[in-house]
This record gives sequence, C-alpha cells and structure tokens, in this order.
Amino acid sequence: MSQTRLSVNINKIATLRNARGGSIPNVVEAAVNCQKFGAQGITVHPRPDERHIRYQDVRDLRPVINTEFNIEGYPSQRFIDLVLEVKPHQVTLVPDSHDVITSNQGWNVIKYDTFLKEVINELQKAGIRTSIFIETDVTQIERAAKTGTNRIELYTEPYARNYPHNPEKAIAPYIKAAKKASEVGLELNAGHDLNLTNLKYFHENIPALLEVSIGHALISDALYYGLEKTILLYLEQLK
Ligand code: PXP
Repeated sequence: MSQTRLSVNINKIATLRNARGGSIPNVVEAAVNCQKFGAQGITVHPRPDERHIRYQDVRDLRPVINTEFNIEGYPSQRFIDLVLEVKPHQVTLVPDSHDVITSNQGWNVIKYDTFLKEVINELQKAGIRTSIFIETDVTQIERAAKTGTNRIELYTEPYARNYPHNPEKAIAPYIKAAKKASEVGLELNAGHDLNLTNLKYFHENIPALLEVSIGHALISDALYYGLEKTILLYLEQLK
C-alpha cells in the first residue's frame, strides 16, 4: 500500500473569516498549523466570486507552504494567470460552473479534450504537476491519459453517499477506475466528502492512492476535537 498524503483543504477557514470580515480565523495561520500538526499538503479552491479563499489569500499562502501546495479550480484565464504567478506544486482542474456550491461533477474529458490539453501543457511547461477531477467512468479515464495530465482526482461524493448503505458496492467503481488509471499510466488522487467514517475503507481498497484532499468534514471535526487531534485522526485512517 502506498503512502497516501493528506492535503487539508482550508476553504472553510476562509468561509468563517469572511462571515465577519477581518482576519479571524487567519487563513495563513491555519495553513501553518495544519502543516505543524502533520498535514502533508494544503489545498485551496479560489472560486470566481472569492466567497471563501480569495485570490490574495493564495498569494499570501505561497511563502508559508513547506509541504505540497495544491490549487484547485476552473481554468479561467484569471485562474491560470494566478497559478502561473504562484506556481504551486500541483493544480487540480475542476469543471465547476460559476454558481455551484461545491464541485459536483468530474470533467467530460471527451468533450473538453482540446481545451484540457492546452491548459495542461501550459501548466506543465511552468513546472506545475496537473491533476484533473474526474468520475469513475473508465472511458473518461483512458481519455484523461491522452490529455497528458500527470494525475486524476477521483470525485468521491458518490462513494461517500453510498458507503453507509453498502461499502462494497460503493467502492467497486473506484477499484475499477484505479486499475484503469494504473494501466494508462495516471497517478491517483481522490477527494470530496471523505470523512472519518469512510476514509479508511477507501484507502484500504485503493492501494495506489497518492493523495486525498479533505476540507468540509475535517474542519467540522476540528470544532469538536481541535485541529491538531483531528489531523492526527485523519492521518491514522491513512496508515
Ligand atoms: N476536491 C475538489 C476538486 C473539491 O472541489 C473539493 C471541495 O472544495 C474537495 C476535493 C474537498 O471536498 P470536501 O470539502 O467535501 O472534503
């Protein structure tokens, strides 16, 4: 089983800050502390309306990230300009439309093939690893490999939704997807709705998983356990 890295998505810290204005809780401090408590990466997802992470936050975070910096988002020109300026280790491309509450689907790689190839090429030329957010359809995964992306991130919302009813059935498409990814030479990340209940089983069944990015559940758990204990609990699921 590979070492799966935990990247903490700190969007919710920014959501809380923005509810009041000012800088409490402080997003940069949160990132520093997540790393101190053992997180192996920090993820942010600046959206066009900047309702949680702002573009300026991304710039402010860059100097303090000493683990892996992963920036997710829809590749608008503004987003591409930002990531080329900030140069994170990884950019995860998501197909979000402007008004979604949270990412709610993977790319249709077949339809957006040319667009994705161009963006991926531009990011890789700047030395940035790319990942594209995708569902478990194996044809999409085959086509994802042809875009030249380094990795895919499997959209785990359906897994999380189905896990409580039937874990084996919930994981089955992800096992197939992971096999296909390995066959076509793609590295594997996963994220969305992973939590302390469903993470361990996912990790045990998807051995090649390199990274999970977790935000909503982890930051919510931190309300009860505190951030340090929460990160340790998530890391334990990935042992
Ligand atoms: N991966 C992607 C592409 C996302 O958009 C999000 C949510 O911002 C996550 C992972 C993390 O999802 P969650 O907040 O449910 O852990």
